[in-house]
Amino acid sequence: MRILLACDHGAWELKNHLRQWLKRQTGVEVVDLGVDGPESVDYPDCAAKLCRALLAGEGDRGVLMCGTGLGVSIAANRFPGIRAALCHDETTARLSRQHNDANVLVMGGRTTGPLVAERMLAVWLETPFEGGRHARRIALLERWDESAEVGGASSD
Ligand code: RB5
Repeated sequence: MRILLACDHGAWELKNHLRQWLKRQTGVEVVDLGVDGPESVDYPDCAAKLCRALLAGEGDRGVLMCGTGLGVSIAANRFPGIRAALCHDETTARLSRQHNDANVLVMGGRTTGPLVAERMLAVWLETPFEGGRHARRIALLERWDESAEVGGASSD
């Protein structure tokens, strides 16, 4: 599985920690899209870089981080086809795969410690999507990608 990583300056240390951890896992290839230091950058740009690469097929899944995870998750979910889940523990990480088929795991570099982040990522990588009723709900979301149903002008 090819995993894309990206972050802003609020999470570069966590991103580097997870890159090293991922490199020790079998069957995983890592692509690091930056950033690599504390210089201030804009989180929408970081999220867009990862989402565009993922949607272009340059990876199977992505891990996005900023200080809280909030900014990059808001940005990432504006890209049709991206299901970015901001998670804080193993339970939310597991459910984001089982129920939401999340293709991007989001974490906060200032809110989640490195060991918890490792465990969350391990669970997230190994947990399959359950399908069934959850597939129907994702199909409802995908319908919005192709219509003006959300955010579009409504006559009602
Ligand atoms: C950057 O200071 C911070 O605002 C950003 O990393 C993120 O937490 C935004 O949601």
